[in-house]
Amino acid sequence: MEELVRRIQEDGNVLSDGVLKVDRFITHQVDPVLMEHIGARLAEVFAEKKITKVVTIEASGIAPAIYAAQSLNAPMIFARKAKSLTMDEELLTSSVYSFTKQVTSTISISRKFLNEQDRVLIVDDFLANGQAAKGLIELCQQAGAQVEGIGIVIEKSFQMGRELLEDMGVPVVSLARIESLENGKVSFKQADA
Ligand code: G4P
Ligand code: NA
Ligand code: NA
Repeated sequence: MEELVRRIQEDGNVLSDGVLKVDRFITHQVDPVLMEHIGARLAEVFAEKKITKVVTIEASGIAPAIYAAQSLNAPMIFARKAKSLTMDEELLTSSVYSFTKQVTSTISISRKFLNEQDRVLIVDDFLANGQAAKGLIELCQQAGAQVEGIGIVIEKSFQMGRELLEDMGVPVVSLARIESLENGKVSFKQADA
């Protein structure tokens, strides 16, 4: 997605060989116009899949996911990282290990929001090692829902996430693909859409 790549070039900051800071438009301050375009693009790519639910994880997956859901005319569900006080009903849960933070956390979605009739599009802002998306796939599997695809805003292609998810049999579509962040410079690969 040309608009996204340009924005990363203009407003992204390389923090290290492994980390790209995008807090000016995605992860802290959010550009709603860009997010709407991202959501619409993902919806277009998955238009034939009869998506019934868009699933993401809090916090920064929510913005692109809500616009994808709006374009697909489906609800958006975000998995929670902490147990909500009002989540007393039955939960779907899975463990997510973060290589970056070296901690395992539990993510959850209320069982009542996903069922075996659902055809799910998973959306997230970053794909690194793929552990968050894998946890979301597991939540969907517990509900008997079919995961039709994964839509990613920024894929760090030098990490193993994409391979992990494709090995699970789920198609991955990334709107920007980063080959390397070496020498303070963002090098892109051809994006999927
Ligand atoms: P993984 O799910 O792909 O395995 O990712 P990992 O554990 O490595 O990433 C942990 C968190 O860091 C995730 O956000 C992820 O989106 C984010 N992240 C990964 N790589 C980058 C990067 O290069 N730049 C930025 N800005 N973020 C990155 P989180 O902390 O779980 O969620 P959120 O509450 O910030 O959305
Ligand atoms: Na994030
Ligand atoms: Na995220």
